[in-house]
Amino acid sequence: MKPKRMLSGIQPTGDVHLGNYFGMMKPAIEMQDSVETYLFIADLHALTSSIEPDALRKNTISVALDFISCGLNPEKTIFFKQSDVPEVTELTWILSCQTSMGLLERCHSYKDKTARGMISNHGLFAYPVLMAADILIYKSDIVPVGRDQKQHLEVTRDIAIRFNNRYGEILTIPEAVIRNESAALPGTDGQKMSKSYGNTIELFGDEKTLRKKIMGIVTDSKGLEDAKNPDDCIPYQIYKLLSGKKNADEMAEKLRAGGYGYGHAKKELFDAYWEHFRPFREKRSAILNDSSYIEKVLADGAVKAGGTARKTVCEIRKAVGLK
Ligand code: AMP
Ligand code: TRP
Repeated sequence: MKPKRMLSGIQPTGDVHLGNYFGMMKPAIEMQDSVETYLFIADLHALTSSIEPDALRKNTISVALDFISCGLNPEKTIFFKQSDVPEVTELTWILSCQTSMGLLERCHSYKDKTARGMISNHGLFAYPVLMAADILIYKSDIVPVGRDQKQHLEVTRDIAIRFNNRYGEILTIPEAVIRNESAALPGTDGQKMSKSYGNTIELFGDEKTLRKKIMGIVTDSKGLEDAKNPDDCIPYQIYKLLSGKKNADEMAEKLRAGGYGYGHAKKELFDAYWEHFRPFREKRSAILNDSSYIEKVLADGAVKAGGTARKTVCEIRKAVGLK
């Protein structure tokens, strides 16, 4: 049987946080041993957010550093920068001409972003077509993402099915891989953790700042002695992902029993979090100043990814009559 190919991407729009880690990075890194893996930094997508050039450059390197520190193995995974494979923009155009306006008008992400005041440029509207091109150009079978990307995967499938109906079975129809327990991790204010809500807990940074963020997670007003429902307790929901089942069951029991306050839960969460990321922090500080290493990994990745992309685009050019 043909080995499965997995692909995912992340925008370099800020520091990587626990939502990114549990929603996408961890599942992807865990799969790199069993499937052919493509991971990339979606710098073209980041341009839709009117990011400053220096911030884009800096974030691209720091997101790459974070991924490698968390266990992405460049020997196993093809790791690259989206813009280093310019064929993806050509495919975006070809797919755009097969994509109805209605399909894009229905996308929540566009509606949410403009409702929050983001400037509604054409790139923001066409964002899902570039994402479809990212996925389809590498003939990806599976795409690990958080729940906020589910609709974009549905759009990708729609575009691919329509394309294949018209031009023949060229594109692979991808499947989203969304882990229920971490599909939409809450942030410090109880909304979905997101760079645009200012409610994130980053993977790396200053201990004092991160401790303060965790101690500031919102909870209800139950007192120390009250019995508490673990499912209503955000620190518990995050702790569950970090600590293993046995420790999580113990915290749930203590919350239900009463006499155990939210402050205690937050303290246990901070300790588990700080321990979990310790080895990654150590790796990160060892390679932190070696930006030439990161650049080399991304350049090597781009060569490999470019080879695959060119093959697909060549097939597509023939199919649509450009060749
Ligand atoms: P982004 O930072 O928007 O490029 O997101 C990168 C990946 O992290 C995507 O697969 C998102 O779905 C995922 N992600 C972002 N925030 C969360 C969250 N709060 N919970 C789960 N997954 C998330
Ligand atoms: N839109 C994704 C996000 O913001 C990033 C992304 C771009 C992506 N292209 C992709 C994710 C292709 C998976 C596959 O999270």
